[in-house]
Parts: sequence; structure tokens; C-alpha cells
Amino acid sequence: MNWLRRFKEKLTTPEKALELVRSGDRVYIHPGCATPQPLVEALVARASTLRNVEIAHMLTFGRADYVKPEYAGIFRHNSLFTGANVREAIAAGRADYTPIFLGEIEELFRSGALPLDVVLMQSSLPDEHGYLSFGVGVDCTLTAARHARNVIVEVNHQMPRTFGDCFLHVSKVSAIVETSRPLLELETEPPTEVQRRIGEYVASLITDGATLQMGIGGIPDAVLACLDDKRDLGVHSEMCSDGVIPLIENGILNGERKTIHRGKVVIGFVLGTRRLFEYMHENPVFELHPTRYTNDPFIIAQNPNMVAINSALQVDLTGQVCSDSIGTKTYSGFGGQVDFIRGAARSPGGKPIIALPATAKGGTISRIAPVLDPGAGVVTSRADVHYVITEYGIAYLHGKTLRQRAEALISIAAPQFRDELYEFAVRAHYLERQPALAS
Ligand code: COA
Repeated sequence: MNWLRRFKEKLTTPEKALELVRSGDRVYIHPGCATPQPLVEALVARASTLRNVEIAHMLTFGRADYVKPEYAGIFRHNSLFTGANVREAIAAGRADYTPIFLGEIEELFRSGALPLDVVLMQSSLPDEHGYLSFGVGVDCTLTAARHARNVIVEVNHQMPRTFGDCFLHVSKVSAIVETSRPLLELETEPPTEVQRRIGEYVASLITDGATLQMGIGGIPDAVLACLDDKRDLGVHSEMCSDGVIPLIENGILNGERKTIHRGKVVIGFVLGTRRLFEYMHENPVFELHPTRYTNDPFIIAQNPNMVAINSALQVDLTGQVCSDSIGTKTYSGFGGQVDFIRGAARSPGGKPIIALPATAKGGTISRIAPVLDPGAGVVTSRADVHYVITEYGIAYLHGKTLRQRAEALISIAAPQFRDELYEFAVRAHYLERQPALAS
């Protein structure tokens, strides 16, 4: 039990552990439900002793006080996927956004393009061999920990122990802070009527034996609620949420027909509630892998009938998909959308799907737009796009002309916007004006 001695030697307080951060460092924070809140708070508490510390991470939950105006010159955030806690700071120019495929983030750490000095992470208790499990998310954090000068771990008694390529040995960490506190949760709202209708259209494309990827947002969970009549489904995804539990329990999601990791729910992280965290604890159905693996299109494509389900903020009449910004305002990030669109496109029988409500802001804005808003970021290009689904139906765009795309997309726009979209498409010469029908 040599590791136990090392574990005890490394045990310290958050305040003491965070002394490892120096001015000029780049600090990486474990994202999602694994956000190590006490370590983040202790970092912010050190503000008066630091200058020019970059804080890089994907979507985190909880407070992100380091983006407050008073920390200018001390902390600057670099967002690799933007969440609600840093959105306003990016919009105000106090923080930065790096557009990047989730599957390629770890290479930035490994190659030295984005070298890391300190990693703040959370883990389960060590097992009898001294291995800490990454629990609810291994995402990019295992690779980050392998390439950072110092790794500070919050070992939380309430973090589930999960399996896969998601362990770090006690000998590899610099400082340990022991806690027992509930993890941060992401509650999913029950699906709205619009989401349910979209879910049904998506479900109509999912055949028995398909392997699913679910992106972030309300729609993927709505899809899971529409799969009761399917058989032998699998999951290979960067993430999943509580919605998988009933499907696993009633035998619909059994991974029987997966060709790699048969029988396993393969993910990089979960965004969910305590119910899911408890369900995952020592549950061999779940296999967590770094997202450079889960999101590698060549790995994804090895599962036949791969269905990738992602959402968007706006789609133009040619099929360009904006998912990370509203105009020039950064909303989220690329995440795994393109990784999975491409992987599913290469999978035999695969179906890359973009599913979004036809409107936003109480029906006042059409999300099927003539052109993208100025400054909107294209996440999925119009050559990558295949299926676009709204509550009004399914448009298949791949290999189609601009004329065919405009027709298909207008047919799934909200009815009150179709004339306007049609007039634009005629002016843009995507469509020829149809002679008015004689009454
Ligand atoms: N114009 C103006 N506002 C718009 C808009 C538009 N075209 N489209 C959406 N909005 C607003 C909505 O009204 C909503 O505002 P509210 O919070 O004030 O109600 C907000 O933007 C979010 O839209 P919503 O449809 O509720 O988002 P969602 O939670 O379902 O998530 C994405 C959808 C696209 C933001 C989400 O899937 C995402 O971030 N994707 C990133 C890329 C990806 O899919 N990666 C793979 C998974 S990691």
C-alpha cells in the first residue's frame, strides 16, 4: 500500500494546493458535472497574488468568478466550449473563445500548441491499487493531466467510480484535497410539444440495432423518450444524460449490435443528475474514454447504422448550420457536432442529423433563415450536412443542389415564414418563381 502513503502525503487544503499556480500559468479546469468547485474558489481567492493566469476549459457549471471585470490582468478565460457562466464575459470582450472540434482539443495539450501548467480536476476515491477514477467525465481531462506540470485533484467521496480509460494513479498527482459534497447537476426539463414532435421525426429514422450519439440541448433527450418500440440500440457518444437509464433498464439500449465495444455505453462524459451518477457507480455498462477517442470520426464510423443527433441555432437555405453563436455573440461551441456528423456519414447505414425547433423567441424568429446572421459561425458546413429536422418534418440535403435544398428547407420552416423564405430564394436565384396557379 505504498500509494496510500503518497496519498496521505499529498493531502492538503484547497488554499495550500492552489499555491502551485504561478503568475503567467495556464490552468485547465475539469468541465461539466465534474467541475471542482472548491478548487476553483481557492484559485479565485488567490487573485491578489497572481498576474496573467489563463483559465482554459470547456462547459463548466457553478460559479466562474474569474471572469468578473475586477480580475482583469489577473485571470483571463479561454473558452473551448462556452457555458452560461462565461457567456456574458465573452460577449463583453473580457474572455476569449477558441472554436475547436472536441476530438482535437487534447492534441493542443499534447503537441504543446496550448501547453498546460496546472490542472484542477475531480475524482473518485482511489481503488485498492491507488487509481483515481474520473467518474462522471474523462473528456479531455486525462490527457490534460498527463501533459500538465501540476495536477491538483479534489477527491470527492460522492464521485462515482466509473470504468474505461478513465483512471489516474495517485503517484501522478501533485496535491489532493478530500471532500464529500454533491456534484453539480444538469436537470433536464420534460420535453416541450415541439421537442416531442422533433423527437418523433428523429426516431422515425432510427432503425433497430442503430448506435446513437446525442449532442447537447433539449432535443437529444426528447429523442430518447421516443424510442420505446426499438430494439438493440447502442450508444457511442461524447456525452449522455439521464435519458439513457430507462432505455438500459428495459433492455432497449443493450449495445448488442455494436461492432466495437459491444454491449457498452461508450461516452466521454455525462451531463445529468444524481440519479445518473449513482446509476453509473461501478456499473460496467458504462465505459468512459477520452473524447479524442470517442470523437475520432474513424472510430465512430466503425459502428454501422451510427445515428448522430445534434442541434443548431440557425440553418440557412443552403444548409449551412450555425450552432455556436447568435450572430457575433458566442453561445456555446463546436463540441462533437462535426466529429459525429462526419463519423456517422462514414458509418455503413449511418445518419447524421441536425434537429432544431423551426422558430425561436416565441415563434417570432425563423431558425431556418434566408442567410445566417452577420457573424454567425458555421459549425457544420453545407457539404457535411445530411438530415435537417424540425417539428414540421425532415429535409435531406446531402448531394442536393441549392435549389433542392431551398425547397426542402422551406417545407420544414414554420408556415408563417415560408412565403418570406420563398421570396428570398427566388431573389437569390436558388429557386425559379412558380407560375401562380389559376384559381
Ligand atoms: N436567433 C436568436 N435566438 C435564438 C436563435 C436564433 N436563431 N436560436 C435559438 N435562440 C435562443 C433561444 O431562444 C434560447 O434562448 P433562451 O435561453 O433565452 O430561451 C437560446 O438561444 C438557446 O436555444 P435552444 O434551442 O433552447 O438551445 P438548446 O439548449 O436546445 O441547445 C444548441 C441548442 C445548438 C445551442 C446546442 O445544441 C449547442 O450548443 N450545440 C453546440 C454544437 C453541438 O451540437 N455539439 C455537440 C454536443 S457537445
